[in-house]
Amino acid sequence: MLDVRDEFGGLAERAWLNCAHQGPLPDRAVTAAQQALEEKRSPWRIADDSFAAVPSRLKAAIGHLIGANPDDVVLANSASYGLELLSRTLPLAEGDEILLVDGDFPATIYPWLPLRERGIRVRFLPGDEALTPERLADELGPATRVLCASWVFSFTGRAVDITALGEVCRRHEMTFVVNGSQAVGARALDVAAAGIDALVSSGFKWTCGPYATGFTWLSPRVRDSLTYRPAYWLTHQLAAADGLERAPRYELAELPGASAYDVFCSANFINFRAWTASIELLLEHGIERVAAHDQALVARLVDGLGDGPLRLLSPPVEPERSTLVFVTHPEPSANERLHASLREAGVEVALRAGRLRLSPHLYNTADDIDRALAVLRAP
Ligand SMILES: Cc1ncc(COP(=O)(O)O)c(C=O)c1O
Repeated sequence: MLDVRDEFGGLAERAWLNCAHQGPLPDRAVTAAQQALEEKRSPWRIADDSFAAVPSRLKAAIGHLIGANPDDVVLANSASYGLELLSRTLPLAEGDEILLVDGDFPATIYPWLPLRERGIRVRFLPGDEALTPERLADELGPATRVLCASWVFSFTGRAVDITALGEVCRRHEMTFVVNGSQAVGARALDVAAAGIDALVSSGFKWTCGPYATGFTWLSPRVRDSLTYRPAYWLTHQLAAADGLERAPRYELAELPGASAYDVFCSANFINFRAWTASIELLLEHGIERVAAHDQALVARLVDGLGDGPLRLLSPPVEPERSTLVFVTHPEPSANERLHASLREAGVEVALRAGRLRLSPHLYNTADDIDRALAVLRAP
């Protein structure tokens, strides 16, 4: 098991089992944000080269995390940023079809809905069964162009096999957009090997970044197919090596990879320096070890529920089991009381759609799980 609790001083004595909502900032990220604030208090301390260095270091960290070329990483403020980008700029035409999963998190759904105004069909796959490659293959029609789905579903805790789904999409020459918000940082990933086309993720959950962080990864094939490329002045000026002091030449530079799509002000000093520190912490321990630690805690929780009064609603075993564990009292109205009792015992979990959701991560310990079980198993 990992032993990184000391890096998360803000948690104090509480058992934070709600990473699916917000990952806590590690102390080193707080220090990084404080340094950025101090520089802004005395602005002559903001180095010119930090406008390029801050996004570049963050992209390198994200690239390591998902096995990607950093140039293919788009910096964002959310998962929604990338979904919006793709829904607006993928080459889609009237009559094309997009497949989504009923019950998926709203961020995965909303950006596609306005496409109906352009005569593009948005169809929902039933979310009550697992999304397997066989089921997907059965659903594809000649007009299906895109599948957009979560890697781990926020309201069921079920993980899908993105590699197998990606294979079906590739055979059908369609684009597979994955929302990894509830998985990136808790599961190992190599985007190229997974054979997906685009990945979006929030940064404030399993990578423990500040709120309003996120990224998108675009495969070169998808990037080159997009129908619009923004031109942000600072990206172009830095790429043209004009620096900030020379008179601007208003010329579009050759930009590497997907950097044209970065969120504006991509040197978002306070948020991005903190987030970089958080991701570097994960990388230091190794994402495979983090994933193994998280699964050991989940296994302890699932086993500990055993023959107790609560029912497990999320998948009991890997690979469908994720780090989001859903449980309910046989009498669902009792879940609210249990939620309050857990909080009283210093254990923080989520109450979602009347069910309890527990989501441990690298800073949690076996003791945190046992504290939760002590309340959940009480008569
Ligand atoms: C699957 C999923 N996607 C996205 C989000 C958040 O989206 P955004 O980063 O756009 O706020 C959440 C949770 O808040 C989520 O569970």
